[in-house]
Amino acid sequence: MNNNNLGNMGKVIAISNHKGGVGKTTSAINFGAGLVKAGKKVLLIDFDPQTNLTQSLDISDPENDIYSVLKGEQKPEPIKLLKNFFVIPAVSALSAAEIELAAEAGREYILSEAIADLKATFDYIIIDCPPSLGLLTINAFTASDEVLIPMQAEYLALQGIGKMLGLVDKIKKRLNPNLQISGIFITQFDSRKVLNRYVFETIDSHFGDKVYETKIRNNIALAEAPNAGQDIFRYQSTSNGAFDYLQLTKEYLRREAKS
Ligand SMILES: Nc1ncnc2c1ncn2[C@@H]1O[C@H](COP(=O)(O)OP(=O)(O)OP(=O)(O)O)[C@@H](O)[C@H]1O
Ligand SMILES: [Mg+2]
Repeated sequence: MNNNNLGNMGKVIAISNHKGGVGKTTSAINFGAGLVKAGKKVLLIDFDPQTNLTQSLDISDPENDIYSVLKGEQKPEPIKLLKNFFVIPAVSALSAAEIELAAEAGREYILSEAIADLKATFDYIIIDCPPSLGLLTINAFTASDEVLIPMQAEYLALQGIGKMLGLVDKIKKRLNPNLQISGIFITQFDSRKVLNRYVFETIDSHFGDKVYETKIRNNIALAEAPNAGQDIFRYQSTSNGAFDYLQLTKEYLRREAKS
């Protein structure tokens, strides 16, 4: 599908896994930057009260943020990072949203409604989800066309995924019939570790063609880039991290074209 066609709506992708530290934020930024490199217009939304994505892009005290948008105090006004690359940042007050919005009618649809108009402007809107399956994540899934799941190749990582897939199913049945799992990919991969290789094979046999061939290797440049406030292609374009995220983007676009 070509999202650049006139009248086509951009695709909304939630990057989610309720396990902490698996590479959601790193992937939101660098998969997003990869799509920009592929000629797409991309919006990142920081939907985590930890505000790691916002900080990783060196944004402080933003004039527009997703919490104010959810509260209905502001219209979303994406901040330009680079040509074709935009962000709606988060502020830590977003942590209050889970409780404040819980009593609202249609509380699961607040993000979906808030970003509806932006879909005509962007090819892809990427939501960096928090490490939990609460109301923020439910809002993200309700607003999304797809969930893309980064995971580490560890035993416990596998156990967690079932719970998440259960939530995706529920949202699909009750709130958003269009929701799909676009894929699962391994991050922080170390091929020297037998465990990593073993778990990859288990995941592969379990989830079949949902599992991406591309694995994001452990790479120090990926951990350093946020300090510079940059995506990996600007920070170190020759790093393994840049190579892997470009491969991930290419694989995503190949799979999308086939589906
Ligand atoms: N492939 C990688 N190689 C090396 N370091 C990485 C890699 N991916 C992520 N990291 C580092 O691991 C840490 C966790 O990554 P990240 O913040 O992207 O995970 P997360 O899933 O968003 O975490 P949280 O659940 O807290 O939101 C960060 O310090 C990040 O820089
Ligand atoms: Mg994160």
